[in-house]
Amino acid sequence: MKWDIDAVRSQFPALKMQVGGEPAVFFDGPGGTQVPRRVLDSLEHYLVRANANRGGPFVTSEKTEEIIEGGRLAAATLLGASPEEVAFGANMTTLNYSLSRALLRHLNPGDEIVITDLDHEANRGPWLALSEMGMEVRSVRIDPGDGSLDLEHLASTVTPRTRVAAITAASNALGTIVDTAKVRRLLPDDCILVVDGVHFTPHEPVDVRAMDCDFFLCSAYKFFGPHIGVLYGRSRFFERLETDRLRPQKDSPPDRIETGTLNHEGIAGTAAAVAFMADPMATGRSLDRQGLLDSVRAMKSYENELFETLYRGLESIPGVTIHGPGLDVPRTPTAGFTVEGKDARTVVEHLGHSGIFAWDGHFYAMTLVEKLAPGPGGLVRVGLAPYNTRGEVERLLQRVESMV
Ligand SMILES: Cc1ncc(COP(=O)(O)O)c(C=O)c1O
Repeated sequence: MKWDIDAVRSQFPALKMQVGGEPAVFFDGPGGTQVPRRVLDSLEHYLVRANANRGGPFVTSEKTEEIIEGGRLAAATLLGASPEEVAFGANMTTLNYSLSRALLRHLNPGDEIVITDLDHEANRGPWLALSEMGMEVRSVRIDPGDGSLDLEHLASTVTPRTRVAAITAASNALGTIVDTAKVRRLLPDDCILVVDGVHFTPHEPVDVRAMDCDFFLCSAYKFFGPHIGVLYGRSRFFERLETDRLRPQKDSPPDRIETGTLNHEGIAGTAAAVAFMADPMATGRSLDRQGLLDSVRAMKSYENELFETLYRGLESIPGVTIHGPGLDVPRTPTAGFTVEGKDARTVVEHLGHSGIFAWDGHFYAMTLVEKLAPGPGGLVRVGLAPYNTRGEVERLLQRVESMV
């Protein structure tokens, strides 16, 4: 599949934005991507033509039910799951809290939970909270040299009492990709593997069956959709999971973890975001798993090629240090870096003033950034999305260079 960048960009109205007469450059994708027209249309369509609550014998309610089913099917196609294994919630963090509280009912005091120093707090806090209920929570180290997860430490942290391992598939701060299949092999057979796929999903083909995980969480606003969280639960666990549930709420997956009224327009938007990922040049192709995988691979190869220019360019600027993995290992197109003598906020302000949007700080990957100790203000983070261009990368490099 040839990547037609103009065809991709033409679908994103936000890319027309100007700052001080210059086109805005969105390198803030790891914090949230921009949204294609079809997602905007799906939100409007839902709110104008189908806006109702569920279960009513009238047309808008029936359409709402269809849209929710369509959203589950689209998310299942994205993740390689079945629609009954897909639940929606406010965001990944809230879903993960619901999941951790539910899993607590299946654990006994003294059971062990493994988390990692690489993870966003959304995949640490909900599990650390269980230590107050008698669970033993242990965090796996990273190698501060290359920002990889220390799998030897993981192997020595895991014991036969490890019942849950909550591990990210990709770091939102450094772009590190974790070999979750390898992680699985280091865990006891009955250990529940929870994977944070929030940063992984926009960049890599996801296959929850190949990952052999029990739960996988992601957020549609990181993959061109609206602000809504998605949870995959492997049916054999999801069917037994004892969730917080109101009396009238259905006691079957996925409804049993979906408290209250869902974000219906967000679900419509999620389906449209997945349709975008399957057909990013809007050729009219219908959504199927194989087509989607081909398209995500094409997106990944475009992003990776661009990332090489970004990485090599940053690397060659005196005083710039890129933290985390190099180009020789699988990684996402997200770079965490520092500029000697400048705190991270000063760097992103300098970029922001010329219309280049990037983030600074710890991005909630707080433990990771504390361990790396990159200096005042944490890291500068620049993340590529499939709508970014070589010209934008060059603008960024010139702007960073002008600071040193
Ligand atoms: C890797 C990762 N995990 C989890 C989250 C939390 O996602 P949400 O904002 O949907 O709660 C984020 C958000 O930045 C993230 O990047």
